[in-house]
Amino acid sequence: MNGDPPAAATGPVTRERLAAKKRAGQPITMLTAYDATLARTVDAAGVDCILVGDSLGNVIQGRASTVPVTLDDMAYHTACVRRGVERALVIADLPFLSYTDVASAVASARRVMQAGAAMVKLEGGAPVFDAVERLTALGVPVCGHLGLTPQAVHQLSGYKVQARDRDARRRLLDEARGLEQRGAAMLVLECVPSSLAAEVAEALAIPVIGIGAGVDVDGQVLVLHDALGLGGERRPRFVRDFMADAGSIPAAIEAFVAAVRDGSFPDAREAYGD
Ligand code: KIV
Repeated sequence: MNGDPPAAATGPVTRERLAAKKRAGQPITMLTAYDATLARTVDAAGVDCILVGDSLGNVIQGRASTVPVTLDDMAYHTACVRRGVERALVIADLPFLSYTDVASAVASARRVMQAGAAMVKLEGGAPVFDAVERLTALGVPVCGHLGLTPQAVHQLSGYKVQARDRDARRRLLDEARGLEQRGAAMLVLECVPSSLAAEVAEALAIPVIGIGAGVDVDGQVLVLHDALGLGGERRPRFVRDFMADAGSIPAAIEAFVAAVRDGSFPDAREAYGD
């Protein structure tokens, strides 16, 4: 283990505490949750951040993408999760086209923050710079999301590894820096080559959390249903079924936390090369 104090002794997770974890080289853990019961279970396992992801469109609503998810959906599930959590930092996704300009970003963030989030996550680079800057100035911590941005699935023509060529790598690194400069408190990087993710994590002072981004970042996030082996047959390579050897949901979540903290998740087969 990495010398983390026991969860009960640390109090609520804050953005400051996450930044300190990055500086100390202590991997950050994040899982999604969408309801109070599983949020309580995730929280009890000592997970640092609970993401009320718009992946609820897929795993709760049975939809083919996150595009149909509404702000009402996000506020409802954020409020459910909030009731189950004592310690973890609750992050809520702003849904598809709910932050196309600064005013709508502020209105959308108000909904999910008042429902119980402590940070909002939004997807994209340059087009969201103004929103990130304004939200930060207004006291709303923001998590960026670059690489495979699922809300843009139709633009990206499917769920594919991103930023494989030199120009795209440079663009992603510039956008990551741009998000940080505008005040983003954290960044999720999804489905990018491990070497690029490592470069971004090294370049930024804020925590960079990977999903399909290799092990050389500041933490890992998975969709809870995937981590519990409920993701279906077409499992992306970055997903590990922590339920397979665990025997119970709490044990599977504890196994995820342990594997992130000791650096054994993800391994090379669960990551993408150049
Ligand atoms: O919606 C979600 O669950 C996410 C994760 C995949 C990072 O954005």
